[in-house]
Amino acid sequence: MKLFQNYPLQDITTFHAKVFAKYYTVFSSPEFLRQILSSTEVKSMPFILLGGGSNVLFTGDFNGVIIRNAIEGIEVISQDDNSIIIKANAGEKWHDFVLYCVNRNYGGVENLSLIPGTVGAGPIQNIGAYGVELKDVLYEVEAMNIHTLEIRKFTNAECKFGYRDSIFKNVEKGNYIILSVTFKLTKNAKVNVSYGSLSKELEAMGITNPTIKDVSNTVIKIRSSKLPDPDKIGNAGSFFKNPVIPNEEFDRIKEIHPDIAYFPATTGHTKLAAGWLIEQCGWKGRRIGDAGVHKDQALVLVNYANATGKEIYELSTQIIASVKEKFGVELEREVNIF
Ligand code: EPU
Repeated sequence: MKLFQNYPLQDITTFHAKVFAKYYTVFSSPEFLRQILSSTEVKSMPFILLGGGSNVLFTGDFNGVIIRNAIEGIEVISQDDNSIIIKANAGEKWHDFVLYCVNRNYGGVENLSLIPGTVGAGPIQNIGAYGVELKDVLYEVEAMNIHTLEIRKFTNAECKFGYRDSIFKNVEKGNYIILSVTFKLTKNAKVNVSYGSLSKELEAMGITNPTIKDVSNTVIKIRSSKLPDPDKIGNAGSFFKNPVIPNEEFDRIKEIHPDIAYFPATTGHTKLAAGWLIEQCGWKGRRIGDAGVHKDQALVLVNYANATGKEIYELSTQIIASVKEKFGVELEREVNIF
């Protein structure tokens, strides 16, 4: 095991804020991970597991060890005429895995094209976009318990998925490191184009019977047009979750703001588009120093160059306060804050 000291996190997190970790190490197999977790140095300090670094914000230096998962590889487990079970290791880039499937006409993940980050990060927050969530295609997750170092499999049901939520963010938070994710995909795909902006874009392009590749390309087009590329402007995608509120509360808000953007949610609830709420509070495109709210999607906070993690966090605090004041709704951060 090689432990790097005083390691800059700027290039391995997509917010690109200038922060340092006391130590940093990488593993490329479960055996290496076991070695790391049993070493006396690592046992004596806090650690954070990082995949693609695309859903984290460090508000200061980290006085512990950052462990990065770099286990790669994709493997077909079984298949028949209709479906295929594929296992992807946690360190694979998510979008590379999507392209692997799209190029072979395996259906199910095409709506999740271009999401930054690694395969292993996907189940933690049940990544979702354009009408599909990871839970819709996930078969099982393999993870190592950080205390016993044993490897356990979680079925889809055992992952207890919810909107941007899973057992790995709740009951088992911090207890497991995901090693691989297995998917059940279809060979005779019926594409899902139920999401408004996706069906509109396909229609605008004159595509009436979209293939998996059409859906993937269209999602890539929409995402590229309104979500900033983290390689160019630091960001971590949606900074907040879309708030889910009881219908009575929703009715109260809709009476005052009839044009509010929202989605259906679990029975008795409505999911509000946080981007809309933030835009209505006048934040869209605003900038405080080098921290800002993206001009095309108010749900995304950006680092124009030299914003510190603390400045971005403070901006998010101001946004939460103004949405609360105007709408009485409490926004929750989706990005992991350290
Ligand atoms: N809207 C505004 N102003 C904005 C942004 C959005 O009025 O600045 C309105 C849009 O006009 C639309 C509605 O809000 O009516 C929804 O917008 P959009 O389709 O962009 O989706 P979203 O709810 O803002 C969610 C996910 C995204 C995902 C998209 C597409 C969350 C927290 N975010 O955003 O996920 O790509 O749907 O499915 O659920 C991410 O998690 O990092 C992420 C980018």
